[in-house]
Amino acid sequence: MNYKVENVKSIKGELSLPGDKSISHRSVMFSCLAGGESTIQNCLMSEDLISTMSCFRALGCRIDEKDELVIINGAGFNGFKKPVKDLHCGNSGTTARLITGILAAQSFSSKLIGDESLSQRPMRRVVDPLLSMGADIQISSNGTLPIHINPVKSLIAVKHELKVASAQVKSAILLAGLHLDETTVVVEKFNTRNHTETMLKLPVKKENGASIISVSKSYYPEKNQYYIPSDISSAAFFMVLGLISENSEIRIKSVLLNESRTGVIEVLKSMGGNISFENIRETSGEKFGDIVVRSSYLRNVVINKELIPNIIDEIPILSVAGIFAEGNFKIENAEELRYKESDRIKSLCDNYKLLGYKVNEFADGFELSGDPTKTSVVIDSKGDHRIAMTFAVLGSQISAGMQIRNFECVAVSNPDFLNQLKKLGS
Ligand code: S3P
Repeated sequence: MNYKVENVKSIKGELSLPGDKSISHRSVMFSCLAGGESTIQNCLMSEDLISTMSCFRALGCRIDEKDELVIINGAGFNGFKKPVKDLHCGNSGTTARLITGILAAQSFSSKLIGDESLSQRPMRRVVDPLLSMGADIQISSNGTLPIHINPVKSLIAVKHELKVASAQVKSAILLAGLHLDETTVVVEKFNTRNHTETMLKLPVKKENGASIISVSKSYYPEKNQYYIPSDISSAAFFMVLGLISENSEIRIKSVLLNESRTGVIEVLKSMGGNISFENIRETSGEKFGDIVVRSSYLRNVVINKELIPNIIDEIPILSVAGIFAEGNFKIENAEELRYKESDRIKSLCDNYKLLGYKVNEFADGFELSGDPTKTSVVIDSKGDHRIAMTFAVLGSQISAGMQIRNFECVAVSNPDFLNQLKKLGS
């Protein structure tokens, strides 16, 4: 579907967004691991979550939706059954990588597949640490899906130092370690999102800036009642729109404010963004609250290397804030962006060039300057939800005939994006 971008002069009002994608995935997975009935309130029901749910249904779990709750009857320890077909992870890296850790510890074989984009994303980063734990996993020669997982008598507890700043890799190792009597340790030098360790209440020691996370069977999840705060990564699109459009004031309700995810707010505030918090609360160790955003005069800032893992999903929309800010937007140290749902450095640079911005692309980032010279163009979302929403926000300010190809991909993380945009804009 081609989306014809609509002009949005100012946005006003209140917005409630679906649950955070990372926490929704983990809530579904932990509920399926646990025995008995768990419930999830405000679970994201996007394509990525549907992929996770369909994999766990194939492993024998019952997952129903009733009165805005997701109700899960989990398998309990060693309770999954051998799937009769390949497990399809769709477009979802979190599904594929986290479930690999879980399946490595099961007593049956399984095979993971994904869509075209997921089938090109690097999987050796999760497979190698699991092989070092004694797992029997075969992966295609170029390090991508499909992944074949065979049972082993027992995995071995290891101490693993993460080589990539990836919460998905960290989580895959921790989820495998959750099945062992002995303690598995993950050492993380860069701070990535910490939902797995927070939700499983794993011990985390801090040493010289690194996190040392321990896990064993004694932390295996029990049935639970989860409430999921709204997705800060989805909120980021509206935060930036509120800042760059004139006479805007919006309140985004009950947004996740976990510090391993709030880097986007830190950057926007340091750029001069008028963003405040109200009504801050906590659920299962996760902070959340209302975010109030008002139109602001922005200036570009230097974005520190240490912050990159924290803002990795928000860099596309931060570049739009950068375009409307004084000075040039520049991002470096972000090579990981090349391994997302699309090569996001290329996707952003190609589309910005199409619009006539001056673009300087590096291996690990890019710099933007100038003004758009052509706005009646067809932006290629490359089937990547965050690229589609980034250009919808940019287009709402410079629109004049811009279209965005394959816009339906927004359903991967926020199927209701256009209605939310309309509601705030009207
Ligand atoms: C996620 C971790 C990040 C992020 C992704 C969700 C997670 O990926 O980009 O959208 O839920 O653990 P990496 O771990 O590959 O950086």
